[in-house]
Amino acid sequence: MCGIVGYIGNKEAYPILMNGLKRLEYRGYDSAGIALLNGQPLLYKKKGKVNDLENYISDSIISGQLGIGHTRWATHGEPNDVNAHPHTSEHGKFIIIHNGIIENYARIKEKLEIRGVTFKSATDTEVLANLIEYIYIKGQVTAEIAVRLALSKVEGAYGLVILCVDEPDRLIAARKGSPLVVGVGDEEYFIASDATPIVEHTKSVIYLNDDDVAIIKKDELVLKTVKNDKQTPIVHQLDLDVGEIDKSGYDHFMLKEIFEQPKSILDTFRGRVAPDLSGLNLGGLFNVIPQMVKAKRIIIVACGTSWHAGLLGEYLMEDMARIPVEVEYASEFRYRNPIINMDDIVIAISQSGETADTLAAIRLAKEKGALVLGICNVVGSSIPRETDAGVYTHAGPEIGVASTKAFTTQVTVLAMMAMVMGHKRGYLSDKKYLGLIKELTEIPGKIEKILVKSDACKELATLYQRATNFLYLGRGYFFPVALEGALKLKEISYIHAEGYPAAEMKHGPIALIDQNMPVVVIATKDKSYDKIVSNIQEVKARNGVVIAIVTEGDSVIRKLADHVFEVPESNIAFEGLLTVVPLQLLSYYIAVMRGCNVDQPRNLAKSVTVE
Ligand code: AGP
Ligand code: GLU
Repeated sequence: MCGIVGYIGNKEAYPILMNGLKRLEYRGYDSAGIALLNGQPLLYKKKGKVNDLENYISDSIISGQLGIGHTRWATHGEPNDVNAHPHTSEHGKFIIIHNGIIENYARIKEKLEIRGVTFKSATDTEVLANLIEYIYIKGQVTAEIAVRLALSKVEGAYGLVILCVDEPDRLIAARKGSPLVVGVGDEEYFIASDATPIVEHTKSVIYLNDDDVAIIKKDELVLKTVKNDKQTPIVHQLDLDVGEIDKSGYDHFMLKEIFEQPKSILDTFRGRVAPDLSGLNLGGLFNVIPQMVKAKRIIIVACGTSWHAGLLGEYLMEDMARIPVEVEYASEFRYRNPIINMDDIVIAISQSGETADTLAAIRLAKEKGALVLGICNVVGSSIPRETDAGVYTHAGPEIGVASTKAFTTQVTVLAMMAMVMGHKRGYLSDKKYLGLIKELTEIPGKIEKILVKSDACKELATLYQRATNFLYLGRGYFFPVALEGALKLKEISYIHAEGYPAAEMKHGPIALIDQNMPVVVIATKDKSYDKIVSNIQEVKARNGVVIAIVTEGDSVIRKLADHVFEVPESNIAFEGLLTVVPLQLLSYYIAVMRGCNVDQPRNLAKSVTVE
């Protein structure tokens, strides 16, 4: 959730921190703050966006070669100036920024209050700052020891960076459950909750593990655990370019990411589809393919858009590989005592690789002995590091809070997995398998053809931007697409939207249909085509407005629907990758026309690292 950035070195910290906050703002954006140490601590924090903080600071003269910055997604205490991070302990010894939740904060707070500690904010973070200070003063220990002792008493999740005014030559960083990456420079270190603010300074990074505490001076990093066991830092090289985290001339990251999809899918193919289309090679799964082929059951765990990709994965895998698949919301799965057998395979899908519920679900699955695989986008994130094997989507950084290219690349990976398993299990003949590979590789070109017609989605958006409700209908492979279309619309335009299996409409939602209700129907040609035509008739009979996504050249639905958007024909199994694109564009344009902040929709954050 929150964005965290820290710097220690020989340069002025302020521009590095401010720039870092702008890069991280997609993670949380209800308030922001910066603290520097230059003899005395300097602290600035403000409700609102990073720009508001920058304007607030603009007249101040700021200097210092070490500091921390934070952009918040509130969990405890409303978004206001006081609850904004950094938080200072009562006697001003410690200044901290935090990502996560201290679950036992109320008990700790009560105990500290009994001992006379007073609090300014409503946050759990300030409680931690005061606990550290209390131990530091009472125990007369070093800052590092105070931090480690305090952390041994807290429950919950944290990514932390801490300044101690008495030890102005170091930053202390700690992680449990919330990601932290340290960038290694020349006599300088950068700390952040993801690599986006680091990549313009260095490509050498150290990913902190749970329970790690790093004591970072400008020329030295000491890594240990909360329990004081020495750790060896492992330096990785980032495969990320600064250019990938710019808007590249697009008005919004979301639009850029929608338009990037053909390239992102090609990147997902890279090294995995044989150049002569003679086979697929999922290198990350090489060692586990035999187990996958023999699996009795696959359980997919994910949240939000990744869950929708998972649902499409269920259809693909059951269809092509004939393995029973269950798709679970990670948050439900972990709390309902699920049955997981040793010969089950659990697949976690996550763009960020950091979603707290998904991470907890895979830990549970591992405990129960299942083979756990990951489909993730962010290289080096927690889920790929904790799974037995997996496949990166390689979609490049997704900054827009609404997931777009993550979805299509996840579905691409799931399709490839289904094809490999189907072929090895004998359900896909060589001919069928090769035919599918060919069709899948044609998808990027077909998405290009859809993107060229983006103006048609803009026109539809002009007509329906004021609607208060939308219904999205699809059958089979298009039901998950309907869910995804509805999620995209509601999260960025704040219009209520529901996705439904088309045939279920008559069991309830049909009551909502009138002349004010746009109904988006995914109705490309497949075995249910006649059925979906009947569903469209049912909507029209009740004066509903139908926007149909149809196969190129469809003449039947054109006569029935109010609007049609044509997509190129493909194998039905891959048409989700095509039909979702006009839905992404429609939501994007509607949100822009309604004046919504498309890349940073209210209340949301890109990476949900709290439960
Ligand atoms: C999608 O547009 C979302 N903002 C959200 O549902 C997201 O897909 C979900 O939080 C899961 O994130 P992940 O893929 O990073 O795990
Ligand atoms: N719990 C802290 C707060 O409310 C941090 C929240 C977060 O990680 O998003 O300020």
